[in-house]
Amino acid sequence: MPIDSDFESTREVVDDHEGHDVWGPVEEPEPLGIHGTHVAVDFDVCLADGACLEDCPVDVFDWVETPGHSVSDRKADPARESQCIDCMLCVDVCPVDAIDVDPTRRTE
Ligand code: F3S
Ligand code: F3S
Ligand code: ZN
Repeated sequence: MPIDSDFESTREVVDDHEGHDVWGPVEEPEPLGIHGTHVAVDFDVCLADGACLEDCPVDVFDWVETPGHSVSDRKADPARESQCIDCMLCVDVCPVDAIDVDPTRRTE
């Protein structure tokens, strides 16, 4: 199932991770929720393909280790979402539609 682009109305912010929001529910090791708001990655959908890390022109993503998660044991974290230039490459290349980018959701 792809990321729910309506997550702002269906989820609540439950945490802060490296300066970005985490939208629950979160119960480690699973579910892990959605990281980021302007650049949002559903950690329960991401299967660690890595295309977003390779292709983002401004290097928004970092790997974060998620041991014990049934889909993959690392996820693409939008560590520098404030640098996103809305090129939408990450959205296009993710094979499982784990990423949603919306310029109107800029939080910074
Ligand atoms: Fe990078 Fe995706 Fe933004 S590829 S520039 S994080 S739209
Ligand atoms: Fe994950 Fe998709 Fe990136 S599977 S690592 S969010 S390309
Ligand atoms: Zn994060």
